[in-house]
Amino acid sequence: MNAFEILDGIYYAGVNDRVTTLFEGLWPLPYGVSYNAYVVKGDKTALMDSVNISMVNHLLTLLGTERIDYLVVHHMEPDHSGAIPELCHKFPEMKIVCNAKAAQMIRGFYGVDCPDRFITVKEGDTLDLGGGKQLRFYMTPMVHWPETMMTWMEDQRLLFSGDAFGSFGAVDGNPLDTISTDWSIRKMEMRRYYAAIVAKYSRPVQAALAKLKGLPVEYIASTHGPVWHERASQVVKIYDEMSSGKTRQGVVIAYGSMYGNTSAVAEIAARRLEERGIREIRVYDAGRADLSRILADIWKYKGLLIASPTYSMNIFPPVEALVKALEVRELKDRVTGVFGSYAWASAAARLLTERLTAMGLPPVSTVSMQLAMNDETAAEVKNLADMMADKILSSEA
Ligand code: FEO
Repeated sequence: MNAFEILDGIYYAGVNDRVTTLFEGLWPLPYGVSYNAYVVKGDKTALMDSVNISMVNHLLTLLGTERIDYLVVHHMEPDHSGAIPELCHKFPEMKIVCNAKAAQMIRGFYGVDCPDRFITVKEGDTLDLGGGKQLRFYMTPMVHWPETMMTWMEDQRLLFSGDAFGSFGAVDGNPLDTISTDWSIRKMEMRRYYAAIVAKYSRPVQAALAKLKGLPVEYIASTHGPVWHERASQVVKIYDEMSSGKTRQGVVIAYGSMYGNTSAVAEIAARRLEERGIREIRVYDAGRADLSRILADIWKYKGLLIASPTYSMNIFPPVEALVKALEVRELKDRVTGVFGSYAWASAAARLLTERLTAMGLPPVSTVSMQLAMNDETAAEVKNLADMMADKILSSEA
């Protein structure tokens, strides 16, 4: 076995993908991504999840001559399940341990249809591997798909958490968070992963956190990114904040701009917010910034100011994509403001106001501008920023 031993008989067998540029064909990977599999060796040996099919050979190299008795499937998205057919071929006696929904997906995705292959588990079931290695299964549906589950190892205080607590970014060297990548980068990559992939399922995440609350977790072995140990409680806290809608007293200003007239508004608003005591302000040009980066900060801060030109009687397309992403993820409990511009017929201000109001996030004020900035519009933008700052600073952090 060539995998990295995390604890006695428990190995990290994850692989790094530094080639794929867009995760799910959507989300940029500036630091790559890891697909994490693990091996638990008792008298019997279990492989916990697998990897993307493109990297199956790397996984097999890590396993070496190890015989795999069980494959535990926590999640069926193909970045973790893609190697299942190859593993079934290599280990004809291997049993697949999963819940009923996952079994159905394995049949559908990969045509693995032999009933003898499967050990179907449900909430609280255990699998004893011998040698002091017992696996206990917790069903955590919709974190991130309906079949998702987690495995708890009581004696080792280790949780195999599936996508939960995962992050973008490859694992450089030692998979334990004691050594791996710079924390500020990792934290952003975790927030970006959450906002892009998991945020839609915040309620199930909260349900899963409630279920796991009493467990004395010391190691979190997710399917992406490092194994959390030193930062385990910190990571759980960040996840709790992101999924429960707890925010900081900051503002994201996301704008679209064709010729600079709308971006001028972002600058005026940002300066005014800072003058009014908002210390964390993040300004994004939605047409150029990575959407997941904008979402990550929106999930972090209380305030959101959206500004858009009118484009063919609609919201400017990159701002429209952002608003759609917020609707899909059911953003809640934010202080919002709207700015819309137009040349001869106004639409963006009204449409943005309607969309945010329909989400239960009515703007504190909507400002509309024809053609270009003037003193009157600048005063209205400052007033909008003042109203947002007052509301944010008086809210609980
Ligand atoms: Fe990493 Fe939802 O798969």
